[in-house]
Amino acid sequence: MINTVAYENDQVIVLNQNLLPDKIVYESYTSVEEVAEAIRTLKVRGAPLIGVTAAFGLALGAARYSGRAEEFTEYYSAIRSQLASTRPTAVNLFWALQRMDRVYQNNAHRELAELKELLLNEARCMFEEDIQTNQLIGQHGAQLLQESSRVMTICNAGALATCGYGTALGVIRSAYQQEKIAKVWACETRPVLQGARLTVWELMQDQIPVALITDNMAGYIMKLGKVDAVIVGADRIAANGDTANKIGTYSLAVLAHHHGIPFYVAAPQSTIDYSIASGQDIPIEERDPEEVRSVRGVYLTVKEAEVFNPAFDVTDNRLITSIITEKGVVFPPYEKSLRERN
Ligand code: MRU
Repeated sequence: MINTVAYENDQVIVLNQNLLPDKIVYESYTSVEEVAEAIRTLKVRGAPLIGVTAAFGLALGAARYSGRAEEFTEYYSAIRSQLASTRPTAVNLFWALQRMDRVYQNNAHRELAELKELLLNEARCMFEEDIQTNQLIGQHGAQLLQESSRVMTICNAGALATCGYGTALGVIRSAYQQEKIAKVWACETRPVLQGARLTVWELMQDQIPVALITDNMAGYIMKLGKVDAVIVGADRIAANGDTANKIGTYSLAVLAHHHGIPFYVAAPQSTIDYSIASGQDIPIEERDPEEVRSVRGVYLTVKEAEVFNPAFDVTDNRLITSIITEKGVVFPPYEKSLRERN
């Protein structure tokens, strides 16, 4: 089992995913700034993990507060903003912070020491719930797969992107236990290579058969008849089922549609944003152009080359065969089916 985040002795401990697969390094943070920076720089990444890490960050900030009780509200809102401003697309970040807010608001009248404890408890609950949620997603999703399936995925929606087990990779894990997985095709996921660095490593740890491909090989492999399903995670699902996920997901969905291959999205309910009617309203993060110009410090292009670097794209609901959450599997029309399963 891979531990991605922990809270011990008023420190947030995270596995630095930027160093994987070469090195397994855990870093300990004692300030909200450090936690926010770790999220911003992708040391911790993946929608569910970002949410829980931010919650631990908020608990950490509260635990280390030594100012006057009357000034705590102002302090809480400052550290909350710091965490909320790290990454805009994954709605799990805001969902987790809102859960912390509710605990704070309902207990604001209590002694500060007690309040600090309640905030930490809430973060710990989210951590535990996330693992159970993913196991349920895995069980529901595995039912969609036939024996000896060859499944394609992108980015890393695995144990590394969550508190454990994973969403899309949770489905694959569960299906593998039922002997339904013959092969996983892992798209490398340019520019940050979460597929190559993280998914391949994670699946190999569990001896799940995985082959790495570059992103532009996906269509050809589908055409060869070597893909039975595509399964991806999600950063935010709009009320109509439109889904934001790692850049490249939309291309896979179009290709899957063209080749008549089912395209599944696996995500917890906390990834569904009912306040957003369609994918058009999902904020898409744009990241540093250097991520595209260079890989691990080595330039692939002219240093001054103009770059466009959206970190996510949106897949139209009509391209999604079904959405798998911890509550079960839903099918189109998603406006109706998502709400009914909520
Ligand atoms: O930029 P990242 O690495 O945080 O992007 C991660 C993804 O796009 C995942 O597919 C998504 O967050 C789901 S993780 C269970």
